[in-house]
Amino acid sequence: MMDDRLITSSMIGGDEEAEHSLRPRFLKEYIGQQEVKEHMRIYIEAAKLRGEPLDHAVFYGPPGLGKTTLASIISNEMGSNLKITSGPALTHAGDLAAIVTNLSEGDILFIDEIHRLNSSVEEALYPAMEDFAIDIVMGKGPSAYSIRIDLPHFTLIGATTRLGLLTAPLRDRFGIKEQLSLYTPSDLAEIIVRSAGILGVRINEEGALEIASRSRGTPRIANRLLKRVRDFAQIKGSGSIDRLTAKAGLDMLAIDEKGLDATDRNILTAMIEKFASRPVGVDTIAAATGEDASTIEDVYEPYLMQLGFITRTPRGRIVLPAGYVHMGYIPPADEGQIKFSME
Ligand SMILES: Nc1ncnc2c1ncn2[C@@H]1O[C@H](COP(=O)(O)OP(=O)(O)OP(=O)(O)O)[C@@H](O)[C@H]1O
Ligand SMILES: [Mg+2]
Repeated sequence: MMDDRLITSSMIGGDEEAEHSLRPRFLKEYIGQQEVKEHMRIYIEAAKLRGEPLDHAVFYGPPGLGKTTLASIISNEMGSNLKITSGPALTHAGDLAAIVTNLSEGDILFIDEIHRLNSSVEEALYPAMEDFAIDIVMGKGPSAYSIRIDLPHFTLIGATTRLGLLTAPLRDRFGIKEQLSLYTPSDLAEIIVRSAGILGVRINEEGALEIASRSRGTPRIANRLLKRVRDFAQIKGSGSIDRLTAKAGLDMLAIDEKGLDATDRNILTAMIEKFASRPVGVDTIAAATGEDASTIEDVYEPYLMQLGFITRTPRGRIVLPAGYVHMGYIPPADEGQIKFSME
């Protein structure tokens, strides 16, 4: 068993293993997201006082912000078991039945990418969430009948990139809905310092901030960049990370000083050059850049909006002056704004 595990972790390059070890285990170690943390602290305490399982919860926000981490923190805080699956993994209602009938009282079932459940599984989930019961169809054809099986009181935790991707009936069955937002550079710097401590890397505050400001508001990216900069510092530097080492390492990765990669820059360039200051829809941006529309909406757009480089208008997305300047263009003299406000 032990040997198996060692072989596996070396085969996957240790990255998944490292992500696991960097994962905070309790709410007090979970950095940032103050509001979500405060809400969850109250809900968890109250449920524990009543001796009841936590209400069903859904977490939504861009990838890598800590939704899976939160689910495992909740199971640790509640002292309950965590069972993890995902929307695409459940292809038949029977797959769901097999999982929920094996849960124990108070267990947590985490369904990642819950917006990707097919409709038969989703329909089977409704009574499971609401009445803690599941209907199982026995037999086939005219002689088929269904039996209802009672389930233990469990907590469903769902994760999705956008709440709007869930159907209304599913959304309504979650008592707790929490949005995770992009992290500030100072929260990310704190995460980086914590991770560096776990990885045994020396880093100063300025080095951490330099990595943080290029991590697109995302802890997973911050941890990944930290590891790459650590490699760089080991080979090219003194082994410890200060601002200059971080900067040199990140420049090598072609991430600019705002954390934009080639795709972000393609999106901005296309919007500026092909569409001038006209508002443009996501599908049009997708077609112009060869990028998937939902990836643009879930990954690229939130960060470009946080930077104040683009914004959404009722008629589409536009590049803001800061976006023009960052890409080395002169912003159109207020023309876009006037055109828009006269609509
Ligand atoms: N608040 C936080 N404090 C410290 N580390 C964090 C925090 N949030 C996330 N992380 C780190 O970021 C990594 C990614 O988080 P996680 O896997 O939970 O993201 P996710 O939202 O589930 O992403 P995805 O949508 O891709 O599944 C974790 O391994 C953890 O180390
Ligand atoms: Mg996840």
